[in-house]
Amino acid sequence: MIFSGSSEMKSQLEAAFDLEPSAAMFKETEHLYQRANRVIPEADWLARAPYIKAINDLKAEKDAVVLAHNYMTPDIYHGVADIVGDSLQLAIEATKVKQSTIIQGGVHFMAETSKILSPEKTVLIPDRKAGCSLAESITAADIEMMRAQYPGAKVVSYVNTTAEVKAASDICCTSSNAAKIVDAQEGDLVIMTPDGHLAQNVAKQTKKKIVYWEGACMVHIEFKADELREYRKYEPDALIIGHPECPTDVIDECDFSGSTAGMIDYVRKNKPEKVLLITECSMGSNIANEVPEVNFLGPCNLCPHMQKITLENILWSLHTGEGAVEVEEKLAAKARLAVQRMIDLK
Ligand code: 13P
Ligand code: SF4
Repeated sequence: MIFSGSSEMKSQLEAAFDLEPSAAMFKETEHLYQRANRVIPEADWLARAPYIKAINDLKAEKDAVVLAHNYMTPDIYHGVADIVGDSLQLAIEATKVKQSTIIQGGVHFMAETSKILSPEKTVLIPDRKAGCSLAESITAADIEMMRAQYPGAKVVSYVNTTAEVKAASDICCTSSNAAKIVDAQEGDLVIMTPDGHLAQNVAKQTKKKIVYWEGACMVHIEFKADELREYRKYEPDALIIGHPECPTDVIDECDFSGSTAGMIDYVRKNKPEKVLLITECSMGSNIANEVPEVNFLGPCNLCPHMQKITLENILWSLHTGEGAVEVEEKLAAKARLAVQRMIDLK
């Protein structure tokens, strides 16, 4: 395994834990490997097994739980995650878990959402630089500017935003409930931020007029409608399912569109012989073992932010407590209102 942290971090971890790959360590984690052996070669698991064992032991010792997004790599998803899900599921779980520490397997806005919902808990993000092109595209001042432009319109902000932006919004949404949240707002006009593509996809499912911020997910805008038409030509039997952060012309080419959890459920239920998942490509790897009859065809776009979370930095964060997320309580209270309103409407 290529160590992604600094050499100082590596030597401190080696001094604190037995990180030497061994057959015994492999055996101890073999039940977890069974869930990922279609996508992780044995030699890779051998190198990862000591980290997986150390993290799982330390979680119990430190009363910690790993909440992992569906885009985490399969070693995290199957090796150390306690709860996996889409953004909405993870937000809901953050309000329910009993442990005193949450390790967020995901990006910074997800950890901030967990902290907003569970202020009494320690929430750790293993790499603070794990950001999001959507969250970075808008500020609270931008929201105020849109409010001034469209007086009286409710502001629905995607959870892929900072606490400041959530606090400046009326309510949050995720990709799994966006249309429902928009429909529930008073008035004929709704402001959606920051994902312009999600907003345009939602506009096709609602009678409300939507005005939107032109932010984009750097992963999903890479998919092109032409590319999908080419796949259709060569793989006419393949099912194409896409995430609503993709441009509308891409979603128009898809057989189904939904949140990451919605896409996973769709594959589980329909078990297509061939499928193209038009989303971050760790997701196909994560469910490959569960549905061995399904062939996952390309393309593969990875999120560089999600990829920043590794077994090494999870272990480091758990060991040292580094990466604690703080949200000032006055701001958190306002942001909580926007997230809680969404959870209440679910
Ligand atoms: P969901 O898991 O809520 O569909 O979100 C996708 C995403 O891009 C999260 O960063
Ligand atoms: Fe943000 Fe897109 Fe990465 Fe999700 S996949 S964290 S929306 S950049």
